[in-house]
Amino acid sequence: MITREESIAIARQHVKNENLVKHMIAVGAIMRGLAEKLGGDPDLWEAAGILHDVDYEEVGQDWSKHGAVSAEIVKSFIPEDGLYAIRAHNPQTGSLPKSKMDWSLYAADGLSGLIIAQGLMMPDKKIASIKVSSLSKRMKDKSFAKGVNRENIVKCTELGLELDEFFRIGLDSMAKVGGELGL
Ligand SMILES: [Fe+2]
Repeated sequence: MITREESIAIARQHVKNENLVKHMIAVGAIMRGLAEKLGGDPDLWEAAGILHDVDYEEVGQDWSKHGAVSAEIVKSFIPEDGLYAIRAHNPQTGSLPKSKMDWSLYAADGLSGLIIAQGLMMPDKKIASIKVSSLSKRMKDKSFAKGVNRENIVKCTELGLELDEFFRIGLDSMAKVGGELGL
């Protein structure tokens, strides 16, 4: 299995936008936390999280390829179930989420954005200071972080997780990489 450092190096090779790299690191962290909770392979789930958007700057306007191209780029590094999860995080590729790893990536993609937006609002700009209850409020406030896809986030039910539980895992997991996120 590819190491975390190798995944991040590949991400940086393909993605120049530092905020997008941070998003990928954040999704990787949530994926690790979810794997630990749900009995998945933490190294594989984290790699799929870090690498899922590796094609973002390459697919351009052709959104139906987003995810499929990522999977192609990293196919020699991670096994097929990880590649499938990467494709299925964008159902427009024609691959729909099925496994726990697929749904985790689908839901974590949205949650990472909500947590980063809320982290930036905190007086100390620290993820560790965010409460689950504030995330719940922000989730309902559609004018907050409009780009965050809340329909992805609610799919945590496919994992057997309540929203609050999912928020707790997301916050704890992302706080662990807060230094790298600058939050
Ligand atoms: Fe993403």
